[in-house]
Amino acid sequence: MARSIRIQFAGATYHVMCRAVARYRNPEARDRQKLKNATMQGLTPAPPWEQKEEMSGRDSRLESRGCKCDAGRVKRRKTKRVGKRKETTRVRESEGLYTVGRRTTAPSDILPGFDLTVTGVPQSDPTYSIEAGFRRYGLEGEDVFLALAARCVQESPGRHNGFEFFQYERGLQVLDLVTHDRQIDSVLTKVCVGSDAVVHLPVWYQYFVGRRFREGSGKFFTPRLVARSMANLLPLEAGLTLCDPTCGGGTFLSEVARLLNGRPCELVGNDVDRTLVGLTEVVLFLTCGASQKRHLFCNNVYDRGSFLYAYSQRVDCILANPPFSLPLDSVGMRSTLFSMGYHNSDAIFLDVCLELLKEGGHLVCLLPHSIVVNTDYSKLRSQVEREWDLCGIITLPEGVFYMTASTTTRADIIHLRKKTAAKTAVVGKIYFANAPTVGVALNSRDIMSGDNALEDVAATVRARGCIVDVADSR
Ligand SMILES: C[S@@+](CC[C@H](N)C(=O)[O-])C[C@H]1O[C@@H](n2cnc3c(N)ncnc32)[C@H](O)[C@@H]1O
Repeated sequence: MARSIRIQFAGATYHVMCRAVARYRNPEARDRQKLKNATMQGLTPAPPWEQKEEMSGRDSRLESRGCKCDAGRVKRRKTKRVGKRKETTRVRESEGLYTVGRRTTAPSDILPGFDLTVTGVPQSDPTYSIEAGFRRYGLEGEDVFLALAARCVQESPGRHNGFEFFQYERGLQVLDLVTHDRQIDSVLTKVCVGSDAVVHLPVWYQYFVGRRFREGSGKFFTPRLVARSMANLLPLEAGLTLCDPTCGGGTFLSEVARLLNGRPCELVGNDVDRTLVGLTEVVLFLTCGASQKRHLFCNNVYDRGSFLYAYSQRVDCILANPPFSLPLDSVGMRSTLFSMGYHNSDAIFLDVCLELLKEGGHLVCLLPHSIVVNTDYSKLRSQVEREWDLCGIITLPEGVFYMTASTTTRADIIHLRKKTAAKTAVVGKIYFANAPTVGVALNSRDIMSGDNALEDVAATVRARGCIVDVADSR
């Protein structure tokens, strides 16, 4: 007589009508038969990325903010009718009180600085699913990142004339290995389309490539909201040449392209890491309008390479976050600060910018708090006063890069303008401000990551007329 048995296979539960289950002595053969039965009845297991436990709404919201339940969870089944079928899902529900605790391994723990909360990336972030899908084909790391970026390019309406740094062909080859897999293909179609895709590219870079890209290398990306507020401190106008000499994932350049909203400009990026220049190339390809020119270089910025030759004294504005505290034995360009005994990458970066900017050009950059306050740097500050006009300083809270780079290094936003020979140059009001929040989590227990005082500070600075146009300042 036929009877119904409950089968759990690959994390899903099936109710299968069967006659004689007992005859399978070999467990593997039995599992294969169970799957066959389930498939024949239209109960094919969902792809691995859809076979996850659902959390109740309250649980997922609290967990996404780093809260932990103090008394564990119970698993309950919820059955609902879909057409003629019944669907059973497992729901985890907490039985105790939530307390704020250390976050562990959700995707947003890895890169919450990249606005997973702000950009509306759903809690069921598909990064893990993508990773699992590619891994089934033995693909991981940089290959997965290149495939994702290549797919974003394929899905974008823009035409490209070949990439110089981004390994598009390699990305396409990796894609070819997986796109016959409908499950992977459908996830890629969802995540690689639209304006969100370009925002996620730096996140995917850090996830798939950049586990080696963290502390000690002076490399971490600036959270997008901080980059946008910094861009808002510049006199952005059509026709300007804007540069990021250590562009990383191109966040500053793409934010400027976005703020200029298709108006013409020249965006210049450089980084010592070729993969990162490739990332910037794709990000700008996906962001820029047709009249926004892009020029990218892969040079050591402290050497006098093609980048410094091409753009010396030609840049209107610089927006940057240089590598912090890397020791430099020598520099290949003129640097007064180096000859004064400052041999670290962040201090010498000021001389790099002085070399690149036109007279009256603006520099808005992140620098270690120590440069602003420590007595060790008092001679450096006096030299800066001789060569630059101070426009403003915004102190930031500790932990701006904690979630992206596990560093508590404190950085401030410094706004300087290269001095001009002309006595008639317009001088703006100098601003000093403190932004206790910047729109991203400042540590692993921070549940107030939505607050963004920096955005308000930038708006106030603009409203009070502290930003002087580059042309006026000559
Ligand atoms: C703190 S990260 C900032 C990246 C990017 N500007 C951002 O804000 O997201 C510093 C960047 O400087 C680059 N870098 C380090 N040393 C460099 C050098 N000597 N020349 C050019 N770029 C360098 C690193 O590869 C890294 O991308």
